[in-house]
Formats: sequence, C-alpha cells, structure tokens
Amino acid sequence: MKCAIILAGGKGTRMKSDKPKVMCEVIFEPMINYVVWAVKEAGIEDICVITGYRHEVVEAHLATLDGDIKTALQEPQLGTGHAVMQARDFISRHYDDDILILNGDGPLMDADTISKSYAYHKGNSNAITLVSAVVENPFSFGRIKRDKNGTLLRIVEEKDATPSEKEIHEINSGTYWFTGKGLLYAINNLSNDNAQKEYYLTDALEVLIRNGDNKGAYICEHSESTLGANDHRQLSDLNTLMRERINDRLMIEVGVDIPCTDGVMIGKDVKIGNSTQILPNTIILGNTEIGEGCVIGPNTYIKDSKIGEGVILDNCKILDSTIEDGVDCGPFVKVRGGSVLKKDVHVGNFVEVKNSIIGEGTKSAHLTYIGDSDVGAGVNFGCGTVTCNYDGKNKTRCKIGDGAFIGCNTNLIAPVEVGEMAYIAAGSTITDDIPKDALSVARAKQVNKEGWVQKKKPYKNMK
Ligand code: UD1
Ligand code: CA
Repeated sequence: MKCAIILAGGKGTRMKSDKPKVMCEVIFEPMINYVVWAVKEAGIEDICVITGYRHEVVEAHLATLDGDIKTALQEPQLGTGHAVMQARDFISRHYDDDILILNGDGPLMDADTISKSYAYHKGNSNAITLVSAVVENPFSFGRIKRDKNGTLLRIVEEKDATPSEKEIHEINSGTYWFTGKGLLYAINNLSNDNAQKEYYLTDALEVLIRNGDNKGAYICEHSESTLGANDHRQLSDLNTLMRERINDRLMIEVGVDIPCTDGVMIGKDVKIGNSTQILPNTIILGNTEIGEGCVIGPNTYIKDSKIGEGVILDNCKILDSTIEDGVDCGPFVKVRGGSVLKKDVHVGNFVEVKNSIIGEGTKSAHLTYIGDSDVGAGVNFGCGTVTCNYDGKNKTRCKIGDGAFIGCNTNLIAPVEVGEMAYIAAGSTITDDIPKDALSVARAKQVNKEGWVQKKKPYKNMK
C-alpha cells in the first residue's frame, strides 16, 4: 500500500507574508492544493499533512478539499526531519507500506513523476528513493553528492555546502519514497548537527546508508517538476510554468486557439472546447466549462461558469453563471449571481446582469442593469433600463414577458410584472403591473410654452 506525508509546517520567512507559505497561490490556488491533487492522481488516498506555522489556517483549508486529509502538528518548527517525526503514529501504522514524502511548496510535482519514481523504488527494493533533477541553476537546493562511480553518498544543503559542492547541478527535489520501516528508523536516528541546528530530513539518506539499506535516486524527466517557491520572485516563476503547462495542454491536446498567451491564466480543471479562441489578459478559473468555437477575451474573467458553443465574451466578467450557445456579450459586461443567459442573447456595453434569467434572443445592447429578474424571450431593453430591485431593505423580482419592448431609460420598480408583448414608452418609471399587449406611459406629460425664451431672456448677453 502507498501513503503520503506532505510537509507544510514552515513559515516561509522569505515570502515576507503573513500567510503560511503553502497557502501562497499559483494560478489563484494555494500551492498545497496542487501537491494534494498530484498525490491523489497517482492513486494515493491516505495523506498526512504536517502543519505548524498558523496551522489553523492550513487545517481549515485542507478541510475544504476532497477526501479525509489527516494532519499532524509540528510546534516549534525545527526542520524537515523534525516535521516528519511528528507523523510517527502515521508512519508506524504504515510500517509495511511505502511512504511518499513531498514539500507542500512544490506545486509542479506531478502524478507521472510520483508513479515512475515509485516503480523505480519498488524495482530496486529501496529503503529510500530520492527524486532528483539536473538543473541549470541549483542555487538554494540541497545538492546530491555521489562518489566517482555515481553511488549516492549524501545530500548537502546550500548553507552547509563547500564551494565545490555548490558546483553540483543534481538537486534534491524534496520528494522521496521510503519504506515505512526505513523511515521510522531514519527519524529515530537524525541529529541536528548542521549550520541551521535543524533536523534535516535529507540526512535520512546517510542514516539508511550507514544501516546498510538500499538507496537510489530517480532522476526526474522534467526538471521543472521539482521546483518550489521560497520567495515571491520564485512564486511568479511557478505561476509562469504552471500557466505554460496548462495552456500548452489546451493548445496541443484539445486544439484551443491562444494566438498570444500574454496574461492568459487558466485553472487546472477548466474545460475548453476545440477551436475556441482565448485572447490576451483572460483569466478562467474554478469549475468552468467552455464549449467549442467561442471567442473569449480580451480582458475577460470567468469563474465557476458554464459557457456554451459559439459564444462571444469581449471584456466581460462572468461569475457563477450559465451562458448558452450563440450568446454575444460585451464589451464591458458583468454577469453574476447564478444568472442564465439563454441562446442567442445579446448583452452589450456597460450592462450588468445579476441573479436573472434572460430568455432566448433577448437583447440589451447598452447601459442597463437587470437584477433579480425573470425575462422572457425576444425582449428588447432600451438603453439605460434599470430594474430597481432593492428598496434599502429587501430585494424583489421583476418579471418581463416574451416579446416585451422596454423603452430607453425605463425604471422598473420591483416587484413588478410586464406582460407579454407589452410596450413601455421611453423614460417611464413603472410601479404597477402592465397587462399583455398594453402600451404603458409613466412620465409627466410634455408642456411647450411658445415664445418663452424671447420673453424671459434666460441666457447671458440676451437683449
Ligand atoms: C528542502 C530540502 C532541500 C531540497 C528542497 C527542495 C531539507 C533540509 N532540505 O530545502 O534539500 O532541495 O527542500 O525544495 O529538507 N517544513 C516544515 N517544518 C519545518 C521546516 C520546513 O513543515 O520545520 C516544510 C515547509 O513548510 C516546506 C517544506 O517543509 O513545505 C520544505 O521546507 P523549506 O524550508 O522550504 O526547505 P528548503 O530550504 O527549500
Ligand atoms: Ca523549499
């Protein structure tokens, strides 16, 4: 059986942030989420996370993720080896199993690397298998020391490394496979005799070598998978790499058209249909699904929404809503609060839709607010229509029947119902229901006073 321990107790001093480091975000998701997802994708369900600095924040967050994730508290935080010691009960229960250990601040670690390193670990009957990588810039990582024949000797931390050791380009990713038995032995024999007076998990390698156990290093095929973030500069790099990983997959495997990836940030679980075009500065997150043949962006933000086929979203913000096939939105449109825009709806510049159902083919071309409303099909909203849905205390709904015509600058004071095909004169303030097929005019009657200007001379310099 397999299980995993994720180290997430460190403060992450170099982030200069109040947040525990593993809560710092990559594509708007805490780094630790990616680690948990990769572990689960590799078929490992039994997970124990070591928490420490602001553990309540990490624990509350883990409770929101799927599955029953266990935690063990490390206080104070005396190093990665000390962190693993806090999971002694978990390790004892898995004495006969294989235990994966990962850093919670390494969100690029992937299920493929986890599975391949496991196969290597089992294939060689190792007590410890390191996941290493050969990188151009090894700075800040632990270096893998080998003898002339390539046999593993130990891991040297940056702070303890001699100048010649700093030249080593094979680094420790912080991901390891142990046998339960080997790991228990190792944590019982770690010391803190090093530059930082910490219990280093990396010393487990030497402890097990001295014990005569089998050891090995699985060299990662894609070295970027081993990257972590210790400061915001590195966090930005991880965002770039994750962005490329997701965008590349969508372009190559699905056939999504991203002519320029500048500012395009797409969440890991977002689904997009082929030949949909994503334009610059577009952020698509959460549980979002987009159909084929859409044009999304530029400058569009979508979260937790379902977008049909052939939809145009130009400079839009779409939150928690459904946009059906053929809808054309924008520029500068906001749709939120569980709204549904049915087939072929057109919503134009400076229109906001909130918690409303808009029927098929309805048009609202400019400067309109539709809130808490049930709108039929084929309705025409004139420029500047406002549903007045809030009286300072309560929110109430407007209902607008199929085919109604709402003249420009109409106020609909909710709750109010506009009948099918009803016609509202521009500038009306509607407080009462309008029957089907009726014309409604609700504005002061116009008065023209002939010759008034010449008589009153209201303008400057008039004689
Ligand atoms: C560690 C490794 C290093 C490796 C690097 C890969 C050690 C001694 N060094 O260094 O060889 O190249 O990861 O990224 O292990 N943590 C705790 N409790 C602690 C200290 C840390 O839970 O007392 C957690 C942190 O929250 C983090 C992880 O362990 O998620 C790694 O800690 P960090 O301080 O970032 O280790 P590195 O210096 O990066
Ligand atoms: Ca680190």
